[in-house]
Amino acid sequence: MKSNQARLNTGSVVPLLGLGTFSISYDFHQTNLAIKMALKMGYRHFDTAKIYGSESILGQALMEAINDGMVNRDELFVTSKLWSSDHHDPVAALQQSLRKMGMEYLDLYMVHWPVRFKSCAEYPVPNEEDFEELDMKSTWVNMEKCLELGLCKAIGVSNFSTKKLQNLLDFASIPPSVNQIEMHPMWKQNKLRKFCMEHNIHISAYMPLGGPGNIWGSTSVIQDPIIQSIAQKYQVTSAQVALRWGMQKGASVIVKSFNENRMKENFGALEIKLDDHDMINIEKMVERKIMRGDHLVNKTTSPYKTVEDLWDNEI
Ligand SMILES: NC(=O)c1ccc[n+]([C@@H]2O[C@H](COP(=O)([O-])OP(=O)(O)OC[C@H]3O[C@@H](n4cnc5c(N)ncnc54)[C@H](OP(=O)(O)O)[C@@H]3O)[C@@H](O)[C@H]2O)c1
Repeated sequence: MKSNQARLNTGSVVPLLGLGTFSISYDFHQTNLAIKMALKMGYRHFDTAKIYGSESILGQALMEAINDGMVNRDELFVTSKLWSSDHHDPVAALQQSLRKMGMEYLDLYMVHWPVRFKSCAEYPVPNEEDFEELDMKSTWVNMEKCLELGLCKAIGVSNFSTKKLQNLLDFASIPPSVNQIEMHPMWKQNKLRKFCMEHNIHISAYMPLGGPGNIWGSTSVIQDPIIQSIAQKYQVTSAQVALRWGMQKGASVIVKSFNENRMKENFGALEIKLDDHDMINIEKMVERKIMRGDHLVNKTTSPYKTVEDLWDNEI
């Protein structure tokens, strides 16, 4: 295994730097170009989800690159996620994602949120009447089936607290390989990371920069004085420090940019190294979760009456 990779509990490897593909809107041509640029720069890990609307653009760009001989399929690590209105049939949902992507299998398929909606739920933000009781046992049995059918090489979850992971481990025949969660220097996830390490579940860090260019995100991570002073020390950028921190904590980091310079900059995070002093200084940063999931909480129909319920008080 190379230093820029981690090993999953399935035995396969995951590149530590991944390209996120969630955007509010997509220009097909620009996005296709950005994904091919990413491949040329060396990105091999690509993250999408049904809800992002980027499955077909990503799949098409990757398949074109494979057919042009730019890269082999087995060098790529491609992920997607089960949306909450598809818990009743993960196999059919994954087959639909694969058709959209023009691919035969995914490297990882994750349950996007510990939330279940009716199959006719409003898309992407649910109405109150769209919520159903989460039945993780039946969802997970069908996730395991996706693996058995060869539709994916690993199965995982996303946005699961330690309590929800423990509950899943109590009945799973096949444990999750990955938990994809918000993680950056301002939301370090120390408790969840310790739990995942003990149970051989890899952490994939989304929003590793805090989402600085997004309306739902924040510039507070890359503008933090501690991050900026470390960046100055090594003559690198704040974004590179934040990404490197996540990787040195053992996570793969899923960073989104479709801008050539920022994609290069982010990929450059693989080349730097933070020392113990830097890591200790970053521990001092105040904690603040940015993606709280308020839209998944309500007092009547959601199983989660408060944001604290959703995260089992790990917020
Ligand atoms: N599992 C989940 O529930 C979940 C939730 C959220 C996200 N995700 C995944 O994680 C990915 C990343 O999350 P995210 O986009 O919210 O957060 P992020 O990667 O931390 O931030 C991306 C934003 O920062 C900008 N940016 C990228 N590199 C930069 C740099 N070097 N300097 C300054 N700004 C930079 C990007 O703009 P430009 O494109 O203009 O460069 C974009 O607006 C998503 O695309 C998705 O694949 C998963």
